[in-house]
This record gives sequence, structure tokens and C-alpha cells, in this order.
Amino acid sequence: MIAADNSHLDNAALPSGDSPELVLVPATPEERIESIKLNSVVWKGALDLDTYLARENHLHQQALVKDGLDIWLLVVRGEAENQRTILASCETYKKKAVLAQDGNVEPISAHGLGSVYCRPEFRGKGYAKRMVSELSKKMDTWQTETILANRSRFSVLYSDIGKKFYAQFGWKPYPSAHFSLSPLSKNEHDRAITGVSLPKAKTLVADDVRHSMCNDEIVRKELGLLRTVSQRSPGAKVAILPSFEHYKWHWAREEFLANILRKDKKPPLIKGAGEDKSRVYCAWNRNFGETPEENTLYILRWIYDEPTSAEETEATARAMAAILKRAQLEAYEWNMAKVQFWNPTPLMEKAVAMLDPTAKIIHREMDSVACLKWNGAEKKDVEWLWNEKYAWC
Ligand SMILES: CC(C)(COP(=O)(O)OP(=O)(O)OC[C@H]1O[C@@H](n2cnc3c(N)ncnc32)[C@H](O)[C@@H]1OP(=O)(O)O)[C@@H](O)C(=O)NCCC(=O)NCCS
Repeated sequence: MIAADNSHLDNAALPSGDSPELVLVPATPEERIESIKLNSVVWKGALDLDTYLARENHLHQQALVKDGLDIWLLVVRGEAENQRTILASCETYKKKAVLAQDGNVEPISAHGLGSVYCRPEFRGKGYAKRMVSELSKKMDTWQTETILANRSRFSVLYSDIGKKFYAQFGWKPYPSAHFSLSPLSKNEHDRAITGVSLPKAKTLVADDVRHSMCNDEIVRKELGLLRTVSQRSPGAKVAILPSFEHYKWHWAREEFLANILRKDKKPPLIKGAGEDKSRVYCAWNRNFGETPEENTLYILRWIYDEPTSAEETEATARAMAAILKRAQLEAYEWNMAKVQFWNPTPLMEKAVAMLDPTAKIIHREMDSVACLKWNGAEKKDVEWLWNEKYAWC
């Protein structure tokens, strides 16, 4: 019997968030299910409980997280496994990352933190704060663990509760900006833009994304780019490795939901768009929200060669604009309310201006605020490169 229901609990008798009686523990498989049931109240969206559980189990089987997902619970010390009251819960995901400094690029381990949750009747007692504080301390000691696999150097999270809460435990807010573009019908998509001639973007299926964005040559080039950037400017730079597994995890989510919410349509096979001449590519996913207004086609990541002349700059921006337009059409066809991509570079801003000169960058203050904590006593002030949606968890 799992104690998650806790209808017997006397709320007033529960320890306060700073009590020495509280402890952070890994969940048993049964407690994992129980914690998902509890957080379904806020995260199941349009799904019923069983389908939400099935989705979480399906995502758990994906290569990206299969062997690296841990659920953490805040509980009262000494209570028996599977009997204890879940006061707060969260998840950590192992992630492969790189650290670039002074021209050296080394592979490192990192973590993502997500699904921080406290059930409504226990809120305001300091449980979430205690849990995150304990986890922060644990991450600092992971850094000095002798077992190599556990030497997590930093962690990221995406806060939906602003910038303050996590900052007190070491997760600093990082640039969290995006563009949001409207969907375009076929007619609107095909209409020429006055004064701008765009190339034709091609659509990419999953295998195309693998070949165009995750092949060995691209990976070598991307790592080379990090090396160059770290030679040019001082300070440590980190990035979560944008492996194909990341895209597959996002697609597993969209395909699971599309299969339930959009039975009228064939599976969403178009996973991105590209333009071969300028070698610009992006991968995307469709995010089904609780309401149609929340439906968003996210560009998970962009890949392009840094232009070396004014002509190349113009051609690359036009290719990006053509790809964005194709994304807007895809959004229309899937009833997505918008197309979004994170932390645009000046080149992407140029592309957006070709499509909509009035479009403004939005700086997120409350939701999906990207935060990073460097583990250990060293407290490095690092720059986060490739801070795009693919790494979201
Ligand atoms: C956010 C949440 C985990 C907080 O749990 P909690 O146990 O009530 O939090 P605590 O009692 O430990 O901490 C309270 C502090 O968090 C802040 N806080 C709580 N909810 C907040 C919110 N939605 N936005 C901003 N701050 C919030 C409080 O203002 C308070 O701040 P203070 O210490 O400066 O007074 C809980 O409300 C919850 O599960 N919400 C739904 C899921 C969610 O949004 N999770 C966060 C995902 S990033």
C-alpha cells in the first residue's frame, strides 16, 4: 500500500520544511508511479490519468532518459519505503555535455532537473524549498564523487515559477528569449514577400534530421566551433550535447499525444526543414497544450555555417526565413497557435525581420526560464552555449 493518498493525514501534525526529520530519498518504482499520479493534477493537460501515466512510462523508455532518470522524494526520515508520505517530488536526468575553455573541449556529465512538485494541500510549508536545497547539496557532492559516472559538473532546469525561487539554491537564470510567429495557411505561405526573394525550404523527416544535423561531420564541426569560441573569449563555456536522442524524446512526446488528440490526422512525420545550398537546418516538435492557445510548434535547434561574407550572411538569413515560413505552414496544418524558437542570434533576428518587421523578441520572466547551476565549491561563472529548446526537460 502506498501512502500517497494520505487522506488520513493530519496536516497540522506534519513537520515544517526546515525540520531535521525531513530527508531526500530516491523513489521506488511504486513511488515513482505515485508521484506521477500526484503531479497529474497540474501536468496531465488534456489527458486522463491512465493516459498521462502511459505517456510518462512511454517517455521513460526513450533512449535519452532510459538509464539516467531518477525521481526524488522529500519524506519523513525513517518511514518505510512505499508507505511514506510524499511531501514533494522532482526528477533528475543525466545529460551529456561539453566544457570548453582556453581552446580545450572536454566531455563532461551534467543533469537536468524537472517536475518539481508539491501537492496543493502541503504547499507553503517550505517542502519544495527544502527538497531543492537538499538536491542542490547532493549535486555539489556528486561533483566530488569518485565514481566517474556521477561526477555531474552542472545542472540545468527550466523554471515556470520565475527567477527567484531556484536562484536561492544556486540555479542562476540565463538568457530566456524567444520569437513567436503566427501560423500561415497555404495561401499565405505561398504569397511572395515584397522585395525579398526566398529560396525553397525542404521538409525533413526524422532520418533527414539525423543526417543533416547529427552526423559525425556536423558534430566535429560544432565541437570545433566551441573550441574556437573558447579561444576567442575568456571564461568557461558549457553546452548540453544536442544528440539525436534529444529530438527523439521530444518526438516520442508529440507522437504519443498526436495519436490521442489528433486521431483525424496521419502521424506527424515532418520533423523539421532545411535549405541545402546555404546548409541551414532546423528540427522541430509540436507541443500540445491544455488549450488550443497553448499549442506551440517549437524549433528545437538550428544548425548553420557561420557566414564569412555579406553575401553569405544574406543567403543564410533568407534560408532561415524560408525555413521559418515552412514551420509556420506546419503550425497551421497542426492547429498550433504559434511557432517559437529560443535565444535567437542576430542572423535569426534578420530572418524574422524579413517575414515580419514588427516582430519583437520576448524575454521570459516567469515560464521556461533557463537556469544553470555549476556544482561544487568552485562556483564557476559559465557561459551556456546552444541554450535552445532541445535541451528542455
Ligand atoms: C511551486 C511549488 C513546487 C512550490 O511548492 P511549496 O512547497 O508550496 O513551496 P515552498 O513552501 O517550499 O516555498 C514557498 C516559496 O515558493 C514561492 N512560490 C511558490 N509557488 C510559486 C509560484 N507559482 N511562483 C513563484 N513563486 C512561488 C513562494 O512565493 C515562497 O517564496 P518565499 O520563500 O520567498 O516566501 C508548488 O506550488 C507546485 O507544485 N506548483 C505546481 C507545479 C509547479 O509549478 N512546479 C514548478 C515547476 S518549475
